[in-house]
Amino acid sequence: MPAPHRLVVLVSGTGTLLQALLDAASEPGYPAAVVAVGADRPGTEGVERAHRAGLPTFVERLAGHPDRASWDRALLDRVRSHAPDVVVGAGFMKVVSPEFLDGIGCPMLNTHPSLLPDFPGAHAVRDALAAGVAVTGATVHRVDAGLDTGPVLGRTEVPVRPGDTETTLHERIKTEERRLLVEVVRGIARADAAPGTSRQPQT
Ligand code: GRF
Repeated sequence: MPAPHRLVVLVSGTGTLLQALLDAASEPGYPAAVVAVGADRPGTEGVERAHRAGLPTFVERLAGHPDRASWDRALLDRVRSHAPDVVVGAGFMKVVSPEFLDGIGCPMLNTHPSLLPDFPGAHAVRDALAAGVAVTGATVHRVDAGLDTGPVLGRTEVPVRPGDTETTLHERIKTEERRLLVEVVRGIARADAAPGTSRQPQT
């Protein structure tokens, strides 16, 4: 059995998506494990979850650097030091550079609370409500140089209910988003470990 895929997870908030990965990884046979958690701001519940799980953490604040390129390089160094197989943006509210994506040496995934390509950006749930759609959802995609534009790896639909607020709708989306993320990561880790791939154990 190959070693579990090494996940470095980046967070900005409460980290319930991270928690879903931590919970999945504690089940026998789940093919991935979180090895480190990073944040772009101090004091997040996401980093607290990592501490409780006994994982290494790091925080790189944009304000702690003279410019964005310096922050991006520092984040890259932190991520690379944990030798990830996959980097996961799980509610990570910063855009990384093409240099970061080249430098990590593995795919980066992002999870987003809408059915991309609809409603990219930081206010996806609010924007979906304002547009009056009957169905929205969540998307896990590979990160590229654009904002929420990379290839879609999985999507899940969530109906909008009468009377939904941004909060109620986002909570229902996040329930599905957590399941989707766990399944997409499982699929990637299994595919990479399949015969004929570079991660297959060499004999
Ligand atoms: C998710 O809906 C994510 O897509 C969005 O912020 C939420 C993060 O939730 N960008 P949590 O911090 O994992 O609870």
